[in-house]
Amino acid sequence: MKFNEIIENGKQKLKSLGIVESTSVIQDGQNVHPSLPGLGWSGNGETYRNTRRMLDNYFIKHRMIADHFTPNTVVTLFEKRIKTPILAAPMSGIKTNLRGQINETEFMKSVLTGCEIAGSIGSCGDSYDTSDGYLASDIMRDISGIAVIKPRSLEEIEIRIAMLAQTNVVAIGIDLDGVTGLMLEEGKVSKKNAADLRHLRTLFQGPMFLKGILSVEDALTAYELGFNGISVSAHGSRSIDRAPAPVYMLPEIAKAVKGKMTILADGGIRDGFDAFVYLALGADAVMVGRTVLYGAVAAGTEGVSTVINKLTADLSRAMLVANCHDVASINDSFIQKYE
Ligand SMILES: Cc1cc2nc3c(=O)[nH]c(=O)nc-3n(C[C@H](O)[C@H](O)[C@H](O)COP(=O)(O)O)c2cc1C
Repeated sequence: MKFNEIIENGKQKLKSLGIVESTSVIQDGQNVHPSLPGLGWSGNGETYRNTRRMLDNYFIKHRMIADHFTPNTVVTLFEKRIKTPILAAPMSGIKTNLRGQINETEFMKSVLTGCEIAGSIGSCGDSYDTSDGYLASDIMRDISGIAVIKPRSLEEIEIRIAMLAQTNVVAIGIDLDGVTGLMLEEGKVSKKNAADLRHLRTLFQGPMFLKGILSVEDALTAYELGFNGISVSAHGSRSIDRAPAPVYMLPEIAKAVKGKMTILADGGIRDGFDAFVYLALGADAVMVGRTVLYGAVAAGTEGVSTVINKLTADLSRAMLVANCHDVASINDSFIQKYE
């Protein structure tokens, strides 16, 4: 299956179960709205729409008269050399969000393997609705990837870090904004202060990062606490309404910490041209959520690798047109906003 067919097929399969991402549709005479659990957003979807609006307002500057070259998309991320700065975002709660459309273990394996085939890195979230134990550490014994742990109790995070340390994990993240999710009402997640995070940072020798960072203050604190990276993310607009769009906050955060730590960013990335804008605004690499998910739902491992390959090909075209030879040289001089 080609990219467009994969996305269409994935969306269609989920729509038939009443799961849509952004626009309400009528399916079998029933109104189907974007919702949570599901693939939708929290609240009224302000963050989701603002993210898209901001991305759509940028264009990539064209420099067509120059020597021909093959853009180099290779990057080194968390000490690993990879073919593309486009990674799969952590996604969990698959059983609930996708109403059993795909088995959670199969989903995570498809994401990690599909990314590996495409020369990228996949991520695993921290599922709360599984009776199978801690899936990420089980899976990462065989396949490498990034693991993102929910802001559970310190003891539970400690156990997960210890389990992951025995695997092929590339980096461990903690999604601090996971505190806004359904697990809050169940008392399973809580905010973490600087002392908590300083302690957690000592538990793993490899790279660690904090996900859900949307302010310069938090980015600087993450750096001071010894984290190797941050993820500028609003959890796919699934945390709270009126969260800032990550793409809006990225430039000021990058100004404060670029070069000191790895900057990941995500939200609303649907093609490699969106990825180029994020890289131009200061991200070292981007994470893609729902678009990768459609790939896994439509065609498993092959669907995921097709998605990452297609987005990387887009990125390469954007670099060619902008006359930008490698990822490190992408900056905001290559993009412009419509007035
Ligand atoms: C179904 C689903 C489950 C998610 N689960 C997690 C999770 O467990 N941990 C996490 O840090 N982020 C989670 N996210 C957020 C993604 O990691 C990422 O931030 C977001 O999807 C990026 O936006 P995009 O979907 O527009 O690409 C989830 C997103 C979706 C769509």
